[in-house]
Amino acid sequence: MGGRLINPVSSLADAKLTPDADSEVLQISGGHQLHGHVRISGAKNSALVIMAGALLCGDDCRIRNVPLLADVEKMGQVLSSLGVQIERHGETLDINAKDFCSSKAPYELVTQLRASFFAIGPILARLGVAQMPLPGGCAIGARPVDLHVRGLQAMGAEVQIEHGICNAFVPGSSRRLKGAKIYLDMPSVGATETLMMAAVLAEGETIIENAAREPEVVDLANFCISMGAKIQGAGSSTITINGVTQLHGTDYTIIPDRIETGTFMIAAAITRSELLLSPVAPDHLIPVIAKLQEVGVSIIEEAADCLRVLPAEHLRATNIDTLPHPGFPTDMQAPFMSLLTLAEGDSIINETVFENRLRHASELNRLGADIRVKGNTAFVKGVSHLSGAPVLGTDLRAAAALVVAGLAASGTTTIQGLRSLDRGYDRLDLKLQQLGAKVKRVSEIINSPDVGSNGVVSPESVITS
Ligand code: UD1
Repeated sequence: MGGRLINPVSSLADAKLTPDADSEVLQISGGHQLHGHVRISGAKNSALVIMAGALLCGDDCRIRNVPLLADVEKMGQVLSSLGVQIERHGETLDINAKDFCSSKAPYELVTQLRASFFAIGPILARLGVAQMPLPGGCAIGARPVDLHVRGLQAMGAEVQIEHGICNAFVPGSSRRLKGAKIYLDMPSVGATETLMMAAVLAEGETIIENAAREPEVVDLANFCISMGAKIQGAGSSTITINGVTQLHGTDYTIIPDRIETGTFMIAAAITRSELLLSPVAPDHLIPVIAKLQEVGVSIIEEAADCLRVLPAEHLRATNIDTLPHPGFPTDMQAPFMSLLTLAEGDSIINETVFENRLRHASELNRLGADIRVKGNTAFVKGVSHLSGAPVLGTDLRAAAALVVAGLAASGTTTIQGLRSLDRGYDRLDLKLQQLGAKVKRVSEIINSPDVGSNGVVSPESVITS
């Protein structure tokens, strides 16, 4: 690789994450229309797992369209800690895992970034041994890894969980995993990805039944295929992998982020604005587009990778059940709830994927929404308007939901919890500013200062910005 060797983590941080996302808030002066064109970044969930997938080969891997995110930084740190070289040039990452030798990922990182646990698959496939701290639960639920572990055991790995560490090794002189028939109790995205990566270098054929069908699983499969892996059926419920002994380097471009796309569609719908979005993959957004149309929003396919969102005259209520792909994505549930707070009539949202993913409802109520939560169901009664207030984003998509609600609310909405937002949205505040939103990131505030009509917070009300 010819580029400058960098610590990808701090460099990404320098480029994006202003002083300390914990002490910062986002101030939104709502009620303004948006206009223009949004450039959609590469998919976070593809980028993270494809970075882990680069461990599968010892040649140069170039990954393009990598979003600028805190989670990508952390995954870079995990790879560096394993002895992998990473260089970043803008949105391109060059990864070389030739000298990758450590099988032990650091506890502090894995517990902050669930996707880094998925690296257990390629680590085990390359080295025959892996020690991964258990990622633990998070703000949206317990999030176990039993399906990952059971699948690896079916492929011949011996796995012991002790002192919070998942210790896995492959017995035998070849230290090579063996192909197996694996049935997943539920179509877990992460388990499908872990096992697919493990199977790529295993001996013989692996069949994953009830596999996740998410576009990011297909993206990972295509990345592995571009390195010489033999994978069939990704995107369906049955994935067949024929193990090979070695993979070669590649140059691969990540798909557009469907959740970022959906979030901007909702930002357009909730502010009654027209927006153009590209590059996008409309096929990945079928359930989200269908629900937007159901509430009255028009979506026009301007080109194969470009969508135009036209506002509804009246927003209508609808019901949503989150489901594995191709059902309605759980990652869009929170932002869509924001939209439904302003729809005429009663909506019901049923979260079926994660057990604790409705915490944004009470924050939306602080903005004047009328939402009642019972178990994993939210009953949303449409209101005529929202009004700004200080709120807290408890997880990544909850924070995004509050941002879109703040765009529609009258007065100033002050959002805490930007660390969550920065994990998964590539410069969201800057992109919104470019669309005309009055959004400002500030370090510390006194008495919730007002954002002026030009989007600038008055200097006397801000200690640092
Ligand atoms: C991925 C996405 C996340 C998205 C989720 C569902 C990444 C980095 N994250 O998370 O943004 O919200 O898919 O689309 O890609 N489960 C088990 N045992 C396991 C694994 C999962 O019981 O071993 C359960 C989970 O608790 C959850 C359900 O399966 O209830 C789905 O989770 P899963 O698809 O695995 O989500 P992640 O891969 O963690």
